[in-house]
Formats: sequence, C-alpha cells, structure tokens
Amino acid sequence: MKQGNLLIQVFLLAYCFGSVCVINAEDPYRFFTWTVTYGTRSPLGVPQQVILINGQFPGPPIEGVTNDNILVNLINKIDEPLLITWNGIKQRRMSWQDGVLGTSCPIQPNSNWTYHFQLKDQIGTYTYFASTSMHRASGAFGALNVNQRSVIFVPYHKPDGDFTLLVSDWYKMGHKALRKRLDSGRALPLPDGLLINGASKGLAFTGEHGKLSSLPTILLRLDSLVLYLCHASCFSTGKFYRFRISNVGISTSINFRIQGHMMTLVEVEGSHTLEEVYESLDVHVGQSLTVLVTLKAPVKDYFIVASTRFTKPVLTTSAILHYKGSKTRPSRPLPIGPTYHIHWSMKQARTIRLNLTANAARPNPQGAFHYGTIPISQTLVLANARTKINGKLRYTVNRVSYVNPTTPLKLADWYNIPGVFDFKTIKNIPTPGPSILGTSVLDFALHEYVEFVFQNNERSIQSWHIDGTNAYVVGYGTGTWNVAMRKRYNYVDAVSRHTFQVYPMSWTSVLASLDNKGMWNVRSQIWSRRYLGQELYVRVWNNERSLYTEAEPPLNALYCGKAKRPV
Ligand SMILES: *[C@@H]1O[C@H](CO)[C@@H](O)[C@H](O)[C@H]1NC(C)=O
Ligand SMILES: *[C@@H]1O[C@H](CO)[C@@H](O)[C@H](O)[C@H]1NC(C)=O
Repeated sequence: MKQGNLLIQVFLLAYCFGSVCVINAEDPYRFFTWTVTYGTRSPLGVPQQVILINGQFPGPPIEGVTNDNILVNLINKIDEPLLITWNGIKQRRMSWQDGVLGTSCPIQPNSNWTYHFQLKDQIGTYTYFASTSMHRASGAFGALNVNQRSVIFVPYHKPDGDFTLLVSDWYKMGHKALRKRLDSGRALPLPDGLLINGASKGLAFTGEHGKLSSLPTILLRLDSLVLYLCHASCFSTGKFYRFRISNVGISTSINFRIQGHMMTLVEVEGSHTLEEVYESLDVHVGQSLTVLVTLKAPVKDYFIVASTRFTKPVLTTSAILHYKGSKTRPSRPLPIGPTYHIHWSMKQARTIRLNLTANAARPNPQGAFHYGTIPISQTLVLANARTKINGKLRYTVNRVSYVNPTTPLKLADWYNIPGVFDFKTIKNIPTPGPSILGTSVLDFALHEYVEFVFQNNERSIQSWHIDGTNAYVVGYGTGTWNVAMRKRYNYVDAVSRHTFQVYPMSWTSVLASLDNKGMWNVRSQIWSRRYLGQELYVRVWNNERSLYTEAEPPLNALYCGKAKRPV
C-alpha cells in the first residue's frame, strides 16, 4: 500500500492548488472481490443463461462516499475476456482504470485483475457494466452510488429511506446469440421486455415481435405480476424517500412514473438540479437520476411503472409501492406515460437545470464555474449513421466505423508503439465520402474547452456518452445544427452530465472542459450500435510527463497485442 499512499498524497497536493484545501487523513479504502460467472435466472419467466457477479443479478451495488478509494478484484470465471467500466466515474488522471478496450487489455478467462480508482470529487447516482463484447446484454451490471462527505450539505433533507432502481430492457437471447446476429450483419429486434432490478412480473406488450400494432396500448395481467420492491412494510405515510433510477438497458429509452405520486428531481449524474416536480421522467440508455417522493396519498398500494419510449409496440413493466399498513392492492389502469412523443421529451429535457447555488461534491456552489463564458477552442460535429460495409450492417461516426485494435490505445500512446492508431482516421466534422472501418482517435490539448455537437440524421434516438469528464448539455434541437443554433443555447444553468440523448433527426450540443489527461471513450450507449462501430476515443494530452496531470501505468497493468510489460 506504500506506493498507493504516496501517489494519493501527491494527488491531494496537486488538487489543492488555487483553492482552500486541508489535507485530511487519507481517503478511505473499500475493497471488493467480485467473481463473474454464468448462472441461470428467469428475468422474463423463462430460464436463460445470465452473467452473475458473486452470484447476483444485477451485480452487487457499490455504496461509496465522495473521494473513497475503490478496489475491485475482478475474477473472470466466464469463458470470454471481460472488462467492467464505471459509467460516469471520471477516473481523474487514470484512464488506466476506465475498463474499456482502448485503455486496458481484457481480463482473460480464469484470471483476475484489480481495479483501483477514486470517486474523486464525485457525488450522485452512477452504474457499472461490462464494456466488452455484448456481455452487458446478459448481466454484469449494477449500481454505483456516491454519497456526500459529512462536510457537504446536499440541497435536500435526509430522506427517510433509499431505493435504487435499475431499469433495463431485456432479450431472451443471451449475449452470444445477440453477438452472432450482429456479426452476421443483422440489426437487433425490439427487446422482449423490461426489467426493474432484474425482474419483471408486470410484463406486457402489444403485438408480436416485428409486427407493428398501429395503436400501442398498455396491457396488464393483474394476477401474480407484482414485484414488491419491499416485502416488509417499509414505506410510511408522510415520509419521503429517495429513488435512484438508472437505465442500464442496451437499446431503449424508458419513461418512469409512480402512480398517484409526483417526483421531485434533485440530481442527474452528479449535478444537483433545480427541484422541479414531475409526473413522469424519461431516462435514456446509460443515464441516471435521483428523485424524492413524499408519501401523502391514501394508504394503499401503487404501481411503479417503466415503459419504453419511441418504440412500437411499447414494452411496460411495473413494481409496487406498498404503503405501510396497506391492505389494498394497486388499482388499474397503470398510470399513462408518453410513448412516441418526441417533442414532449425534448421539452422535458430543457426543464432539467442546474441549481447554481447548491454545491455538488465540493463545498463551493456549482454555478461558480461559469461554463457559458469560457471561449470554445474547438467544435466537433459527430454524425452517426447506419450503413453497410463489405455488405454487412455497421454504424459509423463521421463515416468511420470503429474497430478495436489488439493493442489498447492508451498503452500504444504511452509506450509510443507505432501502427496502432493515428489522428487522421476520423475528421472532426462530417465530410462526404465512403464509410470505412478504422480506429478513430481525436487529439486534444489538456484543458481545451470543446463544443461537441451530436448530429443524428437517423430516425432512431441516440444516447451518447463521454468517459473521463462530464459536459454541460447546452442545447437540443431538431434538424441540422449550424453555428446560429448557439443563440439558443442555455449558457447559464444547463446540467453537467455524462450521457446525452439525441432525438431522431435532431442534434444535441454539449460543452466539455477537457481537463483530465488520458484516453477516453466516446460511445453510443445503445450497445448494438457501439458493438458495430459507433464509438471513438478522445486523447487529452500535453507533453509534460508528471504525476500531477496523469498517473503512470498501474503496477498490475495487463499487456497484450504489441504492448509488452516493461522490464
Ligand atoms: C488476483 O487475486 C489475487 C488473490 O486475491 C491477488 O493477490 C492478486 O493481486 C490479483 N491479481 C491482480 C492482477 O489484481
Ligand atoms: C438550490 O439550492 C439551494 C442551496 O442548497 C437550496 O436552498 C434551494 O432550495 C435550491 N433551489 C431549488 C429551486 O431547488
């Protein structure tokens, strides 16, 4: 541990430049040993193979506190190389720990590897999931909640209880069958159902797969469909509860609602929001948020509902919120949510704003970083497309469909290994020409302030994620983006988050301060798209080699491809 201590001390000193700072005793360590295996579960009522972590599906939650050191010794007992990524954890100075193929060699079957990362200056609701292949479609995902340190005041009272809800779409086909289908050049069908925390009892949908029913309606079987969130009587009248809600699915946006109750939004992906009240909320693939719910309705049971957005048919699942003392089952119909209404979703997205006076993980106001006044150093326009290359389905970004080299980009970069990637494969704006396979890396100087425009000229919704940083979501609009759209940006109180939806035939703009040196994955959270090429990497770099800006490769780093362990 000696080496670790030293590094962290150096880090603290570096961190405190320019701000008032007390060096506390070392931040706490939390140790986890996770064994990943196959197992059998019946999320949709039919037994199927899933991926378990320590026998659990979903995987065990991590409950941490800002600045904790997290050590996860991951033992891979499945038959394929594996990595887990920590969705939204910034891995400050340490893209080595990011758990994607661009930064680490995968953990081979029957071997293990220990991640060591810090929840540095972060707070809020996050998730983790397998980043390799299509593993995420079979499990190996879970919650990663980061609570505030004792010196931090969050802008709401301590809730009377806490619930983490992981909502995911689900296929009866396992990851291998899904992968085979994608490898053969075919797109994935609509998922078979929706799960809440790995279970679905209220599953219902209209129409058969592939058959579109003209008017989606929500059907429900009332008998034996209840998934009690809480078997004991844990919800009491007059009390208020915190629900952390994440979409850990692989393909569809969801809408979330609680019958007879309003939800007060307090946090999205590390930003404390203005406390707006919602009847239902859209959560796109890979996104997380926190709501508070006060129980002041008559004592009975109520439906908690998640349904898919922008799909035909609409998939729905439910759970039950059971008031203490209730003897009455929830009453139908299920509360109705939006189904295809794109404009509704875009309008709602614009109402989600930063509370400028609240603090987040650190005790200074979130609004103190005046993101709207900082000059932009570069604008990137990243356009996704569905295409065919060599006769097979692929997804591209600015005409390039990403392929993983056998040598992780980060290792190639650090050890100057030639022939792995270059900065010329992908352009930073869409250009005419043929679609190609390639290893896309865009190069930035450390501390650049960059405008990313995600341009979606397809008729399906997109969900884009940036590793290593959050970004301010300043605008959503329809059609093709141009510089005049900047007049419509929210330069004052946009939220900073890690995953951004882009509506069909629309654009989304975000501003990111690239102050985290490393190699960072920018990916579609829609997993079949990412698997078939809708991703790239952003290299944030300066030539000064210093622990103040970037950690050395960890001592346990794995080497593969052209990268050999240094002697
Ligand atoms: C693998 O697990 C063993 C036993 O728990 C541990 O000592 C070792 O450090 C782990 N290896 C890596 C590379 O993390
Ligand atoms: C914003 O945060 C402040 C400080 O914590 C809090 O007092 C206030 O109620 C919040 N405002 C809204 C509208 O959420």
